Amino acid sequence: MRFRKLGDVRVGAVGFGTMPLSIEGRPDEARALATVHAALDAGVTLLDTADSYHPPGGAPGEGELLVARALAAYGGRTDDVLVATKGGRGRTADGGWTVDGRPGHLRRAAEASARRLGATPIGLYQLHKPDPAVPYAESLGVIRELLDAGTVRLAGVSNVDTAQILLAREILGDRLVSVQNRYSPAIRESEPELRLCAELGLAFLPWSPLGGISRSSLDGASALEEDPDFGGFHRVARELGVSPQRVALAWLLARSETVLPIPGASRPETVRDSAGAADLDLSGEELAVLDGR
Ligand SMILES: NC(=O)c1ccc[n+]([C@@H]2O[C@H](COP(=O)([O-])OP(=O)(O)OC[C@H]3O[C@@H](n4cnc5c(N)ncnc54)[C@H](OP(=O)(O)O)[C@@H]3O)[C@@H](O)[C@H]2O)c1
Repeated sequence: MRFRKLGDVRVGAVGFGTMPLSIEGRPDEARALATVHAALDAGVTLLDTADSYHPPGGAPGEGELLVARALAAYGGRTDDVLVATKGGRGRTADGGWTVDGRPGHLRRAAEASARRLGATPIGLYQLHKPDPAVPYAESLGVIRELLDAGTVRLAGVSNVDTAQILLAREILGDRLVSVQNRYSPAIRESEPELRLCAELGLAFLPWSPLGGISRSSLDGASALEEDPDFGGFHRVARELGVSPQRVALAWLLARSETVLPIPGASRPETVRDSAGAADLDLSGEELAVLDGR
């Protein structure tokens, strides 16, 4: 697999978003481990999780513990794997998502994540979402403390606008290496943030790069599969004899050298298929079709 950079760390150009392995609808343990192992076998070295990736009523960190178990059970090399986790969100019993950017919470959350991952420093720690009740600079100040204390090696932010990225860079300096925002063929609102990351040399990790987990499909196909507006992706995929998801990820990679997609999956087949996007080159003509959808 080709590589991309996260700060000074080289990772496979397609990462793996492990959220579908940890929230409602998750597969059983054997399939979850097999999916992570299929990703690693395919050359994926960036695994994204969060302390809030657990089913409603579950315990914070279930997703991180799963990633730690999967790495421990893998027979191959894992020293080149970067685990990216996040703090600053939680879940309600009815399946909602909360936000908590208070300094005390973030400090405790990062320390608990490091314990669960069995790794200090945490490879990449991302502030999950700005908390409107807490000045963003205050939450970012805790990330700087965690970097200084050696709890965290690299820092990222998520669900942010351009002003928040610039503030994070001011506070964290070059230890800020990534921005994780929603971005996919269907949802392109984060174009300004993607562009700013390209200018600043920050990795841009598009979340839900395939449009998210389909709620209407029992076999777990991505939302992109069902979207009638994305004929271009389906047409190019048919011509190349690959899946439209692989085309979507290759298109994302072509948006900028700093884009690093983290598609989710709950099956070895899908994660393997997505990983193949790292080596799919699209022609200028194909990209023009896809830019227009
Ligand atoms: N920072 C944030 O606020 C935030 C929010 C949401 C997500 N995220 C991160 O972003 C990651 C990705 O987002 P996501 O999981 O919501 O959605 P996604 O990556 O857009 O879509 C995941 C879905 O796509 C399917 N899929 C994946 N590869 C496929 C392929 N090659 N062919 C056919 N279907 C394929 C999967 O099916 P199967 O389940 O059948 O494998 C799964 O249902 C998450 O896992 C999480 O790590 C972050």
